[in-house]
Amino acid sequence: APDIPLANVKAHLSQFASIAAANGGNRAHGRPGYLASVNYVKAQLDAAGFTTSVRSFTYGGATGYNLIADWPGGDTSDVLMIGSHLDSVSSGAGINDNGTGSAAILETALAVARSNFQPARHLRFGWWGAEELGLRGSTNYVSTLPAAERARITGYLNFDMVGSPNPGYFVYDGDNSDGVGAGPGPAGSARIEDSLEAYFASIGVPTRGTDFDGRSDYGPFIQYGIPAGGTFTGAEGRKTAAQVQLWGGTQTAFDPCYHRACDGLSNVSDTALDRNADAIAYSVWDLAQDGGTEPPPG
Ligand code: PHE
Ligand code: ZN
Ligand code: ZN
Ligand code: ZN
Ligand code: CA
Repeated sequence: APDIPLANVKAHLSQFASIAAANGGNRAHGRPGYLASVNYVKAQLDAAGFTTSVRSFTYGGATGYNLIADWPGGDTSDVLMIGSHLDSVSSGAGINDNGTGSAAILETALAVARSNFQPARHLRFGWWGAEELGLRGSTNYVSTLPAAERARITGYLNFDMVGSPNPGYFVYDGDNSDGVGAGPGPAGSARIEDSLEAYFASIGVPTRGTDFDGRSDYGPFIQYGIPAGGTFTGAEGRKTAAQVQLWGGTQTAFDPCYHRACDGLSNVSDTALDRNADAIAYSVWDLAQDGGTEPPPG
């Protein structure tokens, strides 16, 4: 798998910050900064050779948009999907939440195109609207797909907050081996968790499980029995003394600017963002090859 250039990921974050600044300070559902964010991401994908579509929905009296991007090729009855929410809360620009996930999967998609990756599985990327109002975009997408189309999605990777300034390195506990969340996810979730964990192990960064309870856009996927997984660097929760021992940082919130106006360009750990972007690329390459020809990381 390629190394994802951190500078490229950060350039996307700068664009999201500029879009917010030009649109009343946010990129929230129903506000112009949201659609401007969709248009920015879509233009990059179109230029790279993706087949894109914008699917609209309504929530709370406003139109929302999901951006879907298909990489041509692969088995379309065995679709690996990768998603992040692109909306912010109305109080700020949403750079860590969730410019980081949105930018990291965008740059992974662009790396797929640059390398002309031709995996066995079909790759589809999604940027969700109105996550902050209750997973509205992802729920709309999954629930309005015809059942036969939904059955073709055989895995979903979610990235929401992957550059927290006082980061933890969390992987969704899809197999419930850490006992967090509601129990094991759909069969196949463990394979996704194992792939992400293998990347972090290869760079010597310890991980911990985190709740697999539906608090982000993988929720509607697992409700329909689709295997899922993802990473997370922490939100409003406080890093414990044991976690400071493990990862460094301080016994304060993982993201002190969570859902606040200060969630801007300086609210990001470059190290966490770089590691997570590389983990995403590793797992996309690993999981998309169906049986696995991706060499072990490291
Ligand atoms: N979905 C939450 C938000 O956008 C953040 C979150 C992600 C919390 C993953 C827990 C796990 O505000
Ligand atoms: Zn890197
Ligand atoms: Zn989020
Ligand atoms: Zn949020
Ligand atoms: Ca686990």
